[in-house]
Amino acid sequence: MAKATTPADLTIVPRDLRFGRGTQMRRWWLNNDPFATAFYNALSVTFPKGEGFFVDSVRTFREGTPPRLHAEIQAFIKQEVIHTREHVAFNRHVTDQGYDVSRLEQHIDDALALTKGHPPIASLAATMALEHFTAMLAHQLIANPRHLAGGDEQAAALWRWHAAEEIEHKGVAYDTWLHATRDWTRAKRWKIKAIVMLGTTVKFFAGRYKGMLELLRQDGIIGARAHFGILWYALGRPGMARKILGAWIAFFLPGFHPWNHDDRKLIARAESDYAAAVLPREALAA
Ligand SMILES: [Fe+2]
Ligand SMILES: [Fe+2]
Repeated sequence: MAKATTPADLTIVPRDLRFGRGTQMRRWWLNNDPFATAFYNALSVTFPKGEGFFVDSVRTFREGTPPRLHAEIQAFIKQEVIHTREHVAFNRHVTDQGYDVSRLEQHIDDALALTKGHPPIASLAATMALEHFTAMLAHQLIANPRHLAGGDEQAAALWRWHAAEEIEHKGVAYDTWLHATRDWTRAKRWKIKAIVMLGTTVKFFAGRYKGMLELLRQDGIIGARAHFGILWYALGRPGMARKILGAWIAFFLPGFHPWNHDDRKLIARAESDYAAAVLPREALAA
């Protein structure tokens, strides 16, 4: 079995890049497909507040962590803060296309309100589970080019860049959780981890489903057509939900660690893919 730790030679490097400034995004920027577009748009709307929550949750437990983890938490925070900046810009493109995302933002506020009044370790557990979610999605998104095929160049580049950094820092919230619960029994740790993951999964899918329905409604796609289209997109083609099932199950197995599956080669692949979208602009500015 692979060793259950973050690789010793992994360095988390915040890549301070900007995407899509001064460009226009098509309303259905992803392959002219309203369902695919709705999925990424709905997800993006969650990021500014969601990633802010991740940052706060992990930062609370930074004090007293071993030096290496301490430094990784710093780099994780930097990456998430830059992701938020870029998704705020992306979300502006979404609203520029006439979408009203206020209901989706309300869903996030409601979800985050549920964490109020619970101890900080509950927020860290939720972050650890959601970071596994983002790592699973990120892996799929880069490993299978079909997901972003036909997308506007700058938008696709943004998602590839974000996915690469999510893979790179996928162990940070988990290692912070391991450190914060180091005095717990294995049984208690597993129980809480499993409960939180199950709850997070239900909320994640229900939330994105509602968000997609709302965006599709604004496209005039409603009723059975909307439901069937979302389910086909998630479970049929490209079938993101179906494809992450194995990685989701792995989370519950004994000895799980995000880096049991070393998928660092995808970071390099994404970097070379989005470089084409980023470098020419920089070259022009030089
Ligand atoms: Fe992120
Ligand atoms: Fe993340």
